[in-house]
Amino acid sequence: MLQNGLDVLDFENTLCLKQPSGGRGSKMPLISLRDLHFNYETPERRVEALRGVSLDIEPGEFVAICGPSGCGKTTLMNIMGTLDRPTSGKHFYDGEDLTAKRPSELADLRARDIGFVFQSFNLIDSLSVYDNIELALLYKREDRRNLRSRILEAMDRVGIAHRAKHLPRQLSGGQQQRCAIARAIVGRPAIILADEPTGNLDSVNAAHIFGILKSLHQEGSTLVVVTHSPSQADQAERVLEMIDGRIQFSRRKLS
Ligand SMILES: Nc1ncnc2c1ncn2[C@@H]1O[C@H](COP(=O)(O)OP(=O)(O)OP(=O)(O)O)[C@@H](O)[C@H]1O
Ligand SMILES: [Mg+2]
Repeated sequence: MLQNGLDVLDFENTLCLKQPSGGRGSKMPLISLRDLHFNYETPERRVEALRGVSLDIEPGEFVAICGPSGCGKTTLMNIMGTLDRPTSGKHFYDGEDLTAKRPSELADLRARDIGFVFQSFNLIDSLSVYDNIELALLYKREDRRNLRSRILEAMDRVGIAHRAKHLPRQLSGGQQQRCAIARAIVGRPAIILADEPTGNLDSVNAAHIFGILKSLHQEGSTLVVVTHSPSQADQAERVLEMIDGRIQFSRRKLS
């Protein structure tokens, strides 16, 4: 049964927001968005990229976000990842209201809990593959003694270890995305936000990378993937279809 594009369960969970955070493992949604709007302001015009998005993502869930180009998928991911603040509406993470958080507090949250994989890689051009991945752990203030083995493990998982000393410009697009995924997963984040993570990969590599993301979800990570691939979306536990800045429907896989 759908209400305003969301299933009833999502609305029932709004009650949880009034409770103090129970931490992970509680019934508290990991991410809660309420009536979220986001406008891009340009000199010529205002673009209403999100127009009233309400959504709960439970700890450990695997959610796919689909929809036509320009419907607001990347904008929504950027807000869930605290890279942008909503123009209006509420954004809770693990029960905490992020609306009034300082930029430094949001940066700490990102470093600790969120692994990003962007549509366009976003690697640092002057750093090697190894150093790009290491940077994610340095932001996380990890024990330096464990860094090397963690980085090697992450590179191995995505098949980029043989290019550890290469700069991003010396890699193919697919290899750059492998590096970006290793950087996202090396800190073992609570949530992975992947915006078309396989968009630049051939079908064999895409299946491999998508398999890695799925295995991370099976190990406990919450996974949100933007995808144009129906076969990838079908593997998620829930599919959100966006149109014109809104969630048009939410479909749960029957278990
Ligand atoms: N920096 C910006 N300034 C102005 N408008 C923007 C900006 N970024 C995105 N938009 C507009 O906001 C809307 C949503 O864009 P968004 O990138 O979220 O779409 P998307 O669903 O991710 O599309 P795609 O599938 O092509 O990646 C689009 O109309 C887009 O043109
Ligand atoms: Mg996009």
